Amino acid sequence: MSWVCPACLGRLAPSTGGPVCADCGATYPVRDGVTDLRLAAAMTPHMRKVAAEWDDLAAAYRAMVRGLGARTEEIDRPLLEIASGDILEVGCGDGRLLLKLPARSARSVRGCDISAAMAAVAVGRGLDVVVAPAERLPLPDRSVDTYLSGYYALRHADLDRSCAEMARVLRPGGRFGITLLGQRAVRAAAVVASLGGLWRAEHRWSAARELITFGGSFVAPNDVRSSARTRATLARHGLRLTRVSGFPRLPVLSEFLHRLGISMPRLDGDAAVPVSYDIVVIGTREVG
Ligand SMILES: C[S@@+](CC[C@H](N)C(=O)[O-])C[C@H]1O[C@@H](n2cnc3c(N)ncnc32)[C@H](O)[C@@H]1O
Repeated sequence: MSWVCPACLGRLAPSTGGPVCADCGATYPVRDGVTDLRLAAAMTPHMRKVAAEWDDLAAAYRAMVRGLGARTEEIDRPLLEIASGDILEVGCGDGRLLLKLPARSARSVRGCDISAAMAAVAVGRGLDVVVAPAERLPLPDRSVDTYLSGYYALRHADLDRSCAEMARVLRPGGRFGITLLGQRAVRAAAVVASLGGLWRAEHRWSAARELITFGGSFVAPNDVRSSARTRATLARHGLRLTRVSGFPRLPVLSEFLHRLGISMPRLDGDAAVPVSYDIVVIGTREVG
């Protein structure tokens, strides 16, 4: 598996300024050692905004994740369990999850991220990572055995386009593991946070608005409403959901319990979705 031209899926040949497509002649820049395989024409204003936001967060990301304690360990585990063969992580950030992959299970390990600054950190850690969005992967059809996306990287992506690309690059029978957030739990966390805001004059109106809309502005379109909806989205692209797991997280209380060495239980099955904050979706690409 090697990177290809995102415009025509042609072979990329090295050249002084950056890779050149041997088929269509498109050229791609390399900045600070990181190859940028984003197609300007395929980047929507929303995608540019997401990329810019993560560029700004790149320097602080490692410390941010450290502060999450056991939360990332729990949601990483189901993804690490299914990883083998040619592995791709989409939205790999600084390579945090990719670096946890046991070397014995991988034939190749690659990652891509929409943010150049996040990808640069991963490249600096010795990983084969390029700048590219989930919606337009610079990889050949049927070239990946395991597609991962850790710690809700697809939360703000175009999920339909991303799933189409996931199905395209996965080999028949290939596995995927993605993390998303549960819509009800996102709302509940926002409501709890807003209750605190009511006591602070400068936050009072926004907190009241949040309470009235039951955390509405915190919900992203990809936040999981039910397994049935997620199953249907995946099925449209020939992807079969085989397991859904959830990790409940109660604002403040979960962090407190974690300090005592107690973590919230992992719940498996459709009933996990309504009560879980972190949701891990595992599945396979249909054969044929
Ligand atoms: C919370 S970080 C997760 C990073 C890594 N997966 C992990 O588990 O630590 C989310 C990452 O997703 C990336 N991202 C967001 N939208 C994306 C998209 N449409 N395509 C590719 N990457 C995306 C961001 O740039 C950011 O690096």
